[in-house]
Amino acid sequence: ARLVVLVSGSGTNLQALIDAVADRGYGAEIVAVGADRSGIAGLERAERAGLPTFVHRVKDYPDRTAWDAALTASVRAQRPDLVVTAGFMKILGPDFIAAFTGRIVNTHPALLPSFPGAHGVTDALAYGVRVTGCTVHLVDSGVDTGPIIAQGVVEVTDADHADGGEALHERIKTVERQLLVDVVGRLAREGHRIEDRKVWIPA
Ligand code: GRF
Repeated sequence: ARLVVLVSGSGTNLQALIDAVADRGYGAEIVAVGADRSGIAGLERAERAGLPTFVHRVKDYPDRTAWDAALTASVRAQRPDLVVTAGFMKILGPDFIAAFTGRIVNTHPALLPSFPGAHGVTDALAYGVRVTGCTVHLVDSGVDTGPIIAQGVVEVTDADHADGGEALHERIKTVERQLLVDVVGRLAREGHRIEDRKVWIPA
């Protein structure tokens, strides 16, 4: 399966996928990496792995619709079977969602539907949850609202309240990377279908 991965930051989820696709049995290849900004570690990781990259910055476009169209065109050109948003910090527009419906996989560092949005880790911590975690889901037109494929649980400790959630987010990312690699591999090898909000993967 052909994967396009979209990143906005450190790209540790991307790195986990780069490492996973090296195994021929994994059943996928990363054909390109896209970002909404340049100068990020995620793009360095892609370049180090010899992967084609592209950047579309919102501020380079007259409006959000133009940006969405440009991003959609760059991704479509790669003929992806799956698009993976791993730490991609922009909301994908309707054109993009329409172009890749049912084939966009996102990872979120909280147990959806709790704590959607860009601050899931610190929102959960501030709420006082005793467990949080991560969610791998398909992207629909909402924000972090698509059908859930897998979730991983991470305990919250008293110490987590002392460092603004840094240590907690790292523990979540450790679980998240493994969950994302597992799910993307299964989707790549087995395919999937969606019924209501349930994602069915054979085997
Ligand atoms: C991940 O925890 C992702 O869920 C969140 O931001 C983090 C990105 O990490 N949106 P990385 O860029 O993959 O290291």
